[in-house]
Amino acid sequence: MKTSDEAIADKLTGWYEAVKRQLPWRESRDPYHIWISEIMLQQTQVDTVTGYYRAFIERFPTIQALAEADEDAVLKAWEGLGYYSRARNLRRAAMMIMAQYGGRMPESYEELLALPGVGPYTAGAVASIAYNRPVPAVDGNVMRVFSRLFSLHGDIALPDTKRLMQEIGSRLVSKSEPSSFNQGLMELGALVCTPLSPKCTQCPVQCFCEARKEGIEKQLPVKKKKEKQKEVVIEAAVVRKGNRVLIVKRPAEGLLASLWAFPSVQKDEGQQDGSSIRQELETAYNMETGLHGYLGEKVHVFTHIKWLLKLYELRLQREGALDYPEVRWVDMEELKKYALPTAFKKLLEYIEES
Ligand code: ADE
Repeated sequence: MKTSDEAIADKLTGWYEAVKRQLPWRESRDPYHIWISEIMLQQTQVDTVTGYYRAFIERFPTIQALAEADEDAVLKAWEGLGYYSRARNLRRAAMMIMAQYGGRMPESYEELLALPGVGPYTAGAVASIAYNRPVPAVDGNVMRVFSRLFSLHGDIALPDTKRLMQEIGSRLVSKSEPSSFNQGLMELGALVCTPLSPKCTQCPVQCFCEARKEGIEKQLPVKKKKEKQKEVVIEAAVVRKGNRVLIVKRPAEGLLASLWAFPSVQKDEGQQDGSSIRQELETAYNMETGLHGYLGEKVHVFTHIKWLLKLYELRLQREGALDYPEVRWVDMEELKKYALPTAFKKLLEYIEES
């Protein structure tokens, strides 16, 4: 007699094999490809990832190519995907794989977990999909499926609930077909067991679903409401030299770390409009500027913070004698070589027009 766990695993793997979407990373068993796709898919929709994934693999076809690439080139390939630490960690992890494993992706869950940017979900996904290891791969979608299937009411943002979900994943994962099982759970979460209106009649495991029996599937999972993003005003500047504009490398820590962008700073509440950014250019780059005009503003929302980004045209009055390596003057063609974060890309319409 099969246990209900085994029956759930069988149904799910069978269903996955029958209905799975053709996605570019599913055409490959190369662990490098699986790893890249899973990192991209962490915070980004499948439809968006598809194009980026193909371009990234073409640009960096091997772990060695990624390890040997300049960080700026990797960031450029990531431009627009957001959460840029993912790209930086990929490159660092590739360097580590070259140094420690001779360029071959490690196979075990524990070794994968030790790579920069690889957490329990990604380690489980790569170990199961690429190496068919029977380990769980539990992300937000899978937690939604489990919370409904077993009518679990713990807040999925809490560490205890996450631990429980991980245990359920370990218990349930098919020992013979872990790759299809884990991808089946992901597919179920993406296509059927969706957040707002789950399509229970299409679900391969509906007869096991406790939440459905109780009629509470739409109330699960329990998830604490996100705090509203704090709003800040950021002043940014266009400073010109002939047909070139100034870009600066952002600090190595914090939001959009180490990315090139127009100079910017959080507005000091007590200061007049446009003064904070002039002050910043003076103190950080020894440049004196005059306020020439206000060009426009854009809103950009990050996970925890909301920027009201205001763009000013500043005239260069005196350039400091000091030579700052993190400062560049670029024309619009050269600017395209840099991974300009989306928040700043939104300002380009004001710059190209003026
Ligand atoms: N989401 C996370 N991993 C995925 C995968 N391998 N396929 C589809 N969606 C996913």
